[in-house]
Amino acid sequence: MNILGISGSLRAGSTNTQLLRAVGRLLPAPAQLTIFDGLDELPHFSPERDNDNVPESVRALREAIGQSQGVIICTPEYAFGIPGLLKNALDWCVSTALFDRKPMAAISASPSYMGGERAMASLLPTLTALNTSIPDGCSLVLSSIRNKMNASGELIDPATEQALRRLADGLTGDV
Ligand SMILES: Cc1cc2nc3c(=O)[nH]c(=O)nc-3n(C[C@H](O)[C@H](O)[C@H](O)COP(=O)(O)O)c2cc1C
Repeated sequence: MNILGISGSLRAGSTNTQLLRAVGRLLPAPAQLTIFDGLDELPHFSPERDNDNVPESVRALREAIGQSQGVIICTPEYAFGIPGLLKNALDWCVSTALFDRKPMAAISASPSYMGGERAMASLLPTLTALNTSIPDGCSLVLSSIRNKMNASGELIDPATEQALRRLADGLTGDV
């Protein structure tokens, strides 16, 4: 079972990318996480560019989603919304049926006490537009994230680990 991870942050030390890796370690076997690292390569979406000759970077994104049995998005909140590069990637998928009923988990983590609440509020309608399926327990807003992970990206908060384990189990149907 291939699970695709998409981080909304390009930062080398991104807490959201570290969280994705942490969820990957919690996935029940034989599920395995692959992190898609090509968001930075995608051109800006325009309907005119969305034709039979889409760029290789778009083809790679679509192929990675198509070959996965589930997708986890983990994203920071930028200016009360989701980062533009993540929205751009999702816009490139609107004309496809790739996300149709695809099991999906969404996490938004922030160092603030509110977590990525507003990013999640903006992400969920887009995931609905893409007709994804978000199992119970598979959307998670994580606040004060820097107190919940150590510098190596390991979880140090048992409640967060439990919530992520539930998310991993829910996404893979192992509940
Ligand atoms: C341009 C920008 C906008 C941000 N806006 C918000 C925000 O609206 N809400 C919030 O909680 N954090 C905001 N932050 C702080 C991010 O949550 C924080 O930098 C976080 O660590 C980014 O995630 P990452 O570690 O995965 O890169 C913002 C950061 C940047 C760079």
